[in-house]
Amino acid sequence: MKVGFIGAGKAGFSLGKYFADGGITVTGYYSLHESSARAAAEFTGSRFFDNTEELLKESGAVFLTVPDGAISSVYSELCKYDIKGRHICHCSGVMTAAEAFPDIRRRRAFGYSIHPLFPFTDKKESCGKPAGAFFCIEGDNEHLGEWQNILKNLGFCVQIIDGEVKPMYHAACAIASNLVCALIDESIELMTNCGFTHETALKALSPLIRQNTENILRYGPVKALTGAVERNDVQTVEKHLNCFTTDNERELYRVVCERLIKTARAKNPHKDYSELEKLLTGGI
Ligand SMILES: NC(=O)c1ccc[n+]([C@@H]2O[C@H](COP(=O)([O-])OP(=O)(O)OC[C@H]3O[C@@H](n4cnc5c(N)ncnc54)[C@H](OP(=O)(O)O)[C@@H]3O)[C@@H](O)[C@H]2O)c1
Repeated sequence: MKVGFIGAGKAGFSLGKYFADGGITVTGYYSLHESSARAAAEFTGSRFFDNTEELLKESGAVFLTVPDGAISSVYSELCKYDIKGRHICHCSGVMTAAEAFPDIRRRRAFGYSIHPLFPFTDKKESCGKPAGAFFCIEGDNEHLGEWQNILKNLGFCVQIIDGEVKPMYHAACAIASNLVCALIDESIELMTNCGFTHETALKALSPLIRQNTENILRYGPVKALTGAVERNDVQTVEKHLNCFTTDNERELYRVVCERLIKTARAKNPHKDYSELEKLLTGGI
């Protein structure tokens, strides 16, 4: 399988590098800006293309590693040419292959969504493979197993996912990564209200964040859970609720604590959390 890329951004750079280093021929890159495609081609030892037609001719599979919002239009552009027999892939976590490439079967080509379940924050720095990294894939059954094998041979774990649940799957990924950023950002903001500088706040919180993350990953969130909710410490939670200066902050804290009671109950099935639950749902 020879693989070409449209979109020389963070995902395009890293995936191309995985493929090239794993012995899969990367034909090359086309991108919005020539300089990006040239840089990606150099990075992966492949070619720069100044048009998609030629890239399509040379590649058995074409990855559309463009922003999610551009996938459909780039696919439409590609369909001006004969895509018969080609595998057309995108890397969006939320879109399905059918949604992105609705008429692909009629064109006798094959569509796949191939989502790396890990972040690329930089074009060149993010291509180190995180240990145990997953790809979640779905699309045309005819070659789905082939993609599973290609990715497994590159050293990744692979999960085949039902297209219908992709929005839920992607929301789950966002909760574990992006939403954690919001919570930590909020925590730093509160610390600065308590006299810390932004820098010292992050430094002071680091051992807590690191150890807690380590515990969650090692033991799971139920066993790792500590703190006022887990202890059923109603007065402490009430003090927290009363310290916020904005409704949004209070609501954020309240909603997450309400969900935390479910985790606390799993850890301590014999504890009675009903008073705390009432406080959090406005019953007290
Ligand atoms: N970054 C991640 O952590 C991550 C993780 C999992 C999945 N993904 C998925 O990977 C895909 C790409 O994301 P990304 O983070 O790599 O985005 P990105 O860094 O913004 O790169 C997208 C690239 O697409 C190019 N592009 C935009 N519109 C184009 C068009 N019409 N034709 C050709 N090229 C075009 C741009 O090229 P120029 O540089 O030439 O302007 C840009 O460099 C998305 O579907 C995203 O959901 C990303």
